[in-house]
Amino acid sequence: MADTIMVAGGAGYIGSHMVHQLIEEGYDVVIVDNLSTGHRRAVNPKARFYEGDTRDLDFLNQVFERENIQAVIHMDAFSIVPESVKNPLKYFDNNVIGMVKLFEAMQQHAIHYLIFSSTAATFGQPKKTPVADSAPQEPINPYGESKLMMEQMMKWVDQAYGIKSVALRYFNAAGALEDGSIGEDHNPETHLIPIILRTAMGEQDTLKIYGNDYNTPDGTNVRDYVHIIDLAQAHILALKYLQAGNPSDAFNLGSSTGFSVQEIVAAAREVTQKPIPAEFAPRRGGDPDTLVADSSRAKKVLGWKPKYDNIHDIIQTAWTWKQKHPQGYQDK
Ligand code: UFG
Repeated sequence: MADTIMVAGGAGYIGSHMVHQLIEEGYDVVIVDNLSTGHRRAVNPKARFYEGDTRDLDFLNQVFERENIQAVIHMDAFSIVPESVKNPLKYFDNNVIGMVKLFEAMQQHAIHYLIFSSTAATFGQPKKTPVADSAPQEPINPYGESKLMMEQMMKWVDQAYGIKSVALRYFNAAGALEDGSIGEDHNPETHLIPIILRTAMGEQDTLKIYGNDYNTPDGTNVRDYVHIIDLAQAHILALKYLQAGNPSDAFNLGSSTGFSVQEIVAAAREVTQKPIPAEFAPRRGGDPDTLVADSSRAKKVLGWKPKYDNIHDIIQTAWTWKQKHPQGYQDK
């Protein structure tokens, strides 16, 4: 019988693609989501959905008692950097406390495997690029700090209770399922590609490029955009890696190619065939110059083979979603 996997945050952008991919590969899936940032319409009808909060231990215990879960994929977190700077306690409460409760419930129900969505934000302003898995983790905002605390918790929980875990640190998650049935819909939207596509659709007049005086070739920030389905695939490989008896570990996930904001805008103009007016604006604050992943260990140890290595293809999938769902899920 197929393993049953719980996806915490399975109604979110990354979670909904994760659930899709698990179901594609024959897994049985349980979604836990409180729909605070996720969407009811992003809940996959082939999964069993429990609406509730990961900070609620009674709720989690009920789910673990009803379902025979073998592993948890934890994607349930707040992730807006500027919001975390304004309201750090919201982030420590939801992200850190949520993980404490999840681990308590897992321990009580003898669930041995956790795959965790971590982030490049745990590295802060890296001194070397590309960023290796072993680079120093010195977050520069509460969001990154909360995820680092969660990674650290994993180490001690493994030591004390034997719960094995893999942290996957994504760089810039991008794109959507190719058929455009699920995709990215945040409110407010802060991410570059969805805002570019909103501008392409004429929903806003001009894209603001935050800063053109960074220490990069064209002065705009350089980021590493990795397709959401490739990210989902890495989680399945990490799960198999743990189930094969391998030790807990952490891996950086990116395409290993950096693109400046201006390069992304140029690629989006080619994909959409729209003018996409853009203007320079002051720095947003808290943006590191360059963030590019060294994903060589994920490739070597997990056998990860990203399918999308072309930024145009990645943007095309986001564009298909946007054209099919100009207003996103429209359920909020
Ligand atoms: N940007 C613009 N204009 C916009 C939006 C973004 O110029 O309207 C720029 C940003 O300044 C940045 C780049 O586009 O240089 C990418 O910005 P995103 O907000 O799309 O992504 P970030 O790199 O800021 O954040 C991502 C994740 C975070 C994670 C972080 C790791 O969304 O959750 O990577 O550093 F924390």
